[in-house]
Amino acid sequence: MENKNRAQFATRLGVIATTVGSAVGLGNIWRFPYEAGAHGGGAFLLIYILFILMLGIPVICAEFIMGRGTRSNIFGAYRKLHSRPQWAWVGYIGILASLMILSFYSVVAGWTLEYFFQSIGACFSDTSSVDRHQVFDTFATGWRSPMWSIIFLIVNGCILLRGVQKGIEKVSNILMPVLFVILILFCINSLTLPGAAQGLEFLFLPDFSKVDSSVLLGALGQAFFSLSLGLGTMLTYASYFSDKTPLVKSATTTALLDTLVAILAGIIIFPAVFSFNAEPTAGPKLVFEVLPSIFYQMPFGIGWSTLFFFLLFLASLTSTISMSEIAIAFFTEQLGMTRRAATLLNTGIAILFGTLCALSFGSLSDFTICGLTIFNLFDYVSSNILLPLGGMLISIFVGWVIDKKIVKAQLQGAGALLPWVLNLIVFSLRYIAPIGIALVFFAGLGII
Ligand code: PHE
Repeated sequence: MENKNRAQFATRLGVIATTVGSAVGLGNIWRFPYEAGAHGGGAFLLIYILFILMLGIPVICAEFIMGRGTRSNIFGAYRKLHSRPQWAWVGYIGILASLMILSFYSVVAGWTLEYFFQSIGACFSDTSSVDRHQVFDTFATGWRSPMWSIIFLIVNGCILLRGVQKGIEKVSNILMPVLFVILILFCINSLTLPGAAQGLEFLFLPDFSKVDSSVLLGALGQAFFSLSLGLGTMLTYASYFSDKTPLVKSATTTALLDTLVAILAGIIIFPAVFSFNAEPTAGPKLVFEVLPSIFYQMPFGIGWSTLFFFLLFLASLTSTISMSEIAIAFFTEQLGMTRRAATLLNTGIAILFGTLCALSFGSLSDFTICGLTIFNLFDYVSSNILLPLGGMLISIFVGWVIDKKIVKAQLQGAGALLPWVLNLIVFSLRYIAPIGIALVFFAGLGII
């Protein structure tokens, strides 16, 4: 089963930096605040944290077990662990989801580049007269938005060409610590804003009157999206772990740090939303309209804004690298392509669909399927359908189908794991995760 020539992450820090690098991204800083904003703030946050702990951590463990246990891409992992080819089809769900997410994600990642250059151009220094809605709408409906998403995808492709250790690991090791420091600085700043108390109340005081089954599905989708879960990202990265990497510890650290960043992003954004009379329910443009408003009120605002959007760009990059690696590992290992051809194919597909997603804010805005624009459709189908479905199937597969000895051996690693922790994870994988995900999933879709 072992493939001695396979790439591996070099250090323990590299493991955490890459998995946290994958998890932390636009999902935390852009998607979490607007999802929480639209779905009642504190209540959403509480449910979200519950899902991360009860469903997210066990499913990360399941992906880690499959990845390191087989040292294979998602499709190959299912094939190696089970003789029936039907299971390997679940791998296709992951690959499809990764391509869909990469397409719409690159649009928003492209926006971070536009805002980065706008900040350098000192656009935000002209304070009160600038209408942030206008700036965003003019930009997002024009040709620059698809242009930036294509540029972003090319940068992404160039890093992926460099491979696992020199490309992925090196970039993550540098970027993640810097991102944390900057986020904390922004938090401190937001807490001094006049609307801080109101914003924090919105984020932390739960109002359950807004919670229904679609909010639960939204929170589940957000948890999976933010943890890069259910499509094989964590599985693919774990296939590059060394035998010494402790899986449960790494899974828990990744989940907790990712949740911390989402909460920090909420602390940055909601005080600002209330200070500047913005609407917490503004949707995908929330961060891009609200944050520049804070920046140009701050001393050295242009510098902060430039730094922030650059960091957001980098955080997106460590995430898109991880989602691209799913398909690239599949193309190289299952279809026998070179890394170069696989990267080109992955980038080409994403450019095609990414452009359609970008245009769905402008010339294609009237084109809708089931009432959703292409961008929203890609987001909804991948986050709220494919990821929970993939997560549910992975937990059933690891909990029920594969040999228990593999599960135990992988979780236990060097033998440092306490028996009750092991039993808890196995129990969660067999019962809590599949049943919990199934209930939320089917109720959210209106099936039960
Ligand atoms: N977790 C990433 C984020 O929060 C997005 C992502 C989803 C990355 C799926 C990989 C796979 O931004």
